[in-house]
Amino acid sequence: MVKKIPTVLILGVSSFVGSNLAEFLRHDFHVIGTYHDHPVRIPGVLTFACDILKKNVIKSIILHFRPDITIYAIGLSSIQDCRRHPHLAETLNTGGVYNVSEFCDRYKSLFIYFSSAFVFHGDEGNYLESDNPDSSTVFGHSKSSVEFYIQRTSINYLILRCGNLYGRSFHPCQLTKFEELQNACFNGQELVVDNHVHIGHLDVFYLGMIIKLCWDNKISNRLFHVSTTDQMTYYEFAKLYAEVFHQSGEHIRPGMWPVNSNVDSDNLYFRLDTANLAGQINITLPTIKESLQFTYERWHLDAPDKFWPDYLEKARKAAAAAQDNANQEAKPEEPPPQNA
Ligand SMILES: NC(=O)c1ccc[n+]([C@@H]2O[C@H](COP(=O)([O-])OP(=O)(O)OC[C@H]3O[C@@H](n4cnc5c(N)ncnc54)[C@H](OP(=O)(O)O)[C@@H]3O)[C@@H](O)[C@H]2O)c1
Repeated sequence: MVKKIPTVLILGVSSFVGSNLAEFLRHDFHVIGTYHDHPVRIPGVLTFACDILKKNVIKSIILHFRPDITIYAIGLSSIQDCRRHPHLAETLNTGGVYNVSEFCDRYKSLFIYFSSAFVFHGDEGNYLESDNPDSSTVFGHSKSSVEFYIQRTSINYLILRCGNLYGRSFHPCQLTKFEELQNACFNGQELVVDNHVHIGHLDVFYLGMIIKLCWDNKISNRLFHVSTTDQMTYYEFAKLYAEVFHQSGEHIRPGMWPVNSNVDSDNLYFRLDTANLAGQINITLPTIKESLQFTYERWHLDAPDKFWPDYLEKARKAAAAAQDNANQEAKPEEPPPQNA
């Protein structure tokens, strides 16, 4: 019997996250995607315009394509923009989800939502999935209220709460922060970046791998943390990028990003504990350096889509080795030999 190729609908395929997921997932899934103001072209991906606030249109799309997975990659994702436009933040980060999740349940589509480490205040770090969100930003509030709504109402969902994701964009006229970093390093231009917010920085392709593995393992109705196992400020990350990509980082200067005007500390820590996800899909999540090395290698290979299975194998071996070590440590001590 011919195996049916599952269909993935990416709402917001023009977004940084959505476009990269489309590029990654199109090798294993039929991918279709919607944009709003910015049409994007991704080989093999059917894209069309859609306003997330038009409930009937969302219903027709889900009814017509019957996606196995529906990914919500729409939102106002800058903390500063959310503070300036709280109504729009609420509409895109929260209102659109209400429209989509209802039809996903009705038409049996796995609904995937990306939340953020910024649901937390940032005074502690090493957050677990079970910790209570306590952000004081508009962005953090909008994300945590959607998490709560989905967990309470949806019957088939995955919430992936992510640290910083980086990579290139398919957007026709907007560079990602990472592309700005690359340009500055390449052209030797001065770049001032934050040196106070400590967070994980993960290649966005890992998110694609994680979605694929969760789908293959039939994992649903869970909230997982997705991040690197360590954390750095963007300044430290930028310096490490320059090292891994063999470029000069001498023009990168430390600055301060106004993440939240209410904070009482100079430094904020958003490291997410990823042990639950690693255990479920049986891989080891990378450090920031390993993630950057992965990025470097996939951009310098002829066939980047052939790269990740090898990488996955390495990550699985690392997880197995870590498990062996843990088992060794947990072994009860041998009783002393009895003298005859
Ligand atoms: N980037 C990260 O590191 C990160 C980390 C954690 C979570 N996330 C979450 O992942 C999601 C995507 O983030 P991103 O940074 O990739 O976003 P982004 O690049 O800023 O893209 C925003 C998307 O929203 C779409 N959009 C705006 N208004 C719309 C409307 N009325 N109807 C339909 N679509 C509309 C835009 O479409 P057009 O461009 O076509 O107008 C675009 O596709 C967000 O929910 C974000 O919070 C991102």
